[in-house]
Amino acid sequence: MPLGSRVIRRLSWLAPLVALVLVAACGQEYPQSSLFPKGEPARLEDGLFFQTVWWAAAVFVLVEGALVYAIIRYRAKPGAAEPNQIHGNTIVEIIWTMIPALILVGIAVPTVKAIFKENETPKGGDALTVEVVGHQWWWEFRYPELNLTTANELHVPVGRTISLKMGAYDVIHSFWLPQFAGKRDVFPNRETRLWFNAEQPGEYSGQCAEFCGIQHGRMGFRVIAQPPAEFQGWVAHMKTITMQPAAASAAPKDSVHTSTAGAAVQQQAKPAPPAADSAKAAPAGPQNPEVAQGQKLFLMKGCVGCHALVAYNAPKGLLGPNLANVGARTHIAAGTLANTDENLAHWIRFPQDVKHGVLMPNLGVTEAEAKALVAFLRTHR
Ligand code: CUA
Repeated sequence: MPLGSRVIRRLSWLAPLVALVLVAACGQEYPQSSLFPKGEPARLEDGLFFQTVWWAAAVFVLVEGALVYAIIRYRAKPGAAEPNQIHGNTIVEIIWTMIPALILVGIAVPTVKAIFKENETPKGGDALTVEVVGHQWWWEFRYPELNLTTANELHVPVGRTISLKMGAYDVIHSFWLPQFAGKRDVFPNRETRLWFNAEQPGEYSGQCAEFCGIQHGRMGFRVIAQPPAEFQGWVAHMKTITMQPAAASAAPKDSVHTSTAGAAVQQQAKPAPPAADSAKAAPAGPQNPEVAQGQKLFLMKGCVGCHALVAYNAPKGLLGPNLANVGARTHIAAGTLANTDENLAHWIRFPQDVKHGVLMPNLGVTEAEAKALVAFLRTHR
């Protein structure tokens, strides 16, 4: 027996094991799969996908079935004469051209309808408009009606159509929120539109889907869908955030994530409460010397040149993400790290290690300075 065959035979017992591992991988939840739609128009796309899959499956079974039948039924038998030789059959050929053509029409009609539906700009006053700006490598979200700006975490009210007006600051990106809508490229100097509708409260993840530079893979975002009243509470709270550190009592309890999924993720991420460990007895607000020191550093180190700390009426055109509620976000650096004190300090000190090529430079922040900056930023929630 040749060596290759012997090796294959020896290792054949591994096959079921490998299959088990592969099948087990299907058991977990995929937050970025379009196969689990949670709202329109993703549900529409999912329906189209499975409609096509069932057509393909039916064609496969019929064609392969006919083939297998012919192979067995008309196989060569000892002593049998040569079968009739057929050269062309117009009727059969017309039939097998017409059937696929009709199937294609059956797929094309709902597909084209869905394309038009998905490209509609929502009409009527009920849609909430959000301006999306793709940056290398983070997402800016602006609510023109509310005069609010935020970054990387998009809060939306459940049950209301969200109408996205999208563009890019630098290069082409692609906004992809698989559980709600398909991909849509975003361009500098050109507007593209997309809409979606969250049916259930929760936290949903999205991702840039167009290669946009070395950190393209770390350009994620989250959509936090909240019941309308909770969303209004979030809006009202965001309007109160100022450059000044907030006192601990001013921060809403459980921050902004009261939805179940949001709370679960937040628990997992364990962002520290506003008071840093070393300052348990000290107040978290402006009276806390570490927070005050952090505020001073935020100005001195130049952070303020790129990052706004107010969400309401926020300055436009800044290079860095808006940090008004950074203390409450589940992730930092556009989904790269969980928003823990350690990760935030590491990110502030070594942005180029965490996300090489990012616009944020290493500013020579010491460990103590990073701790103070974290304490200050935690009050912004
Ligand atoms: Cu932005 Cu890829």
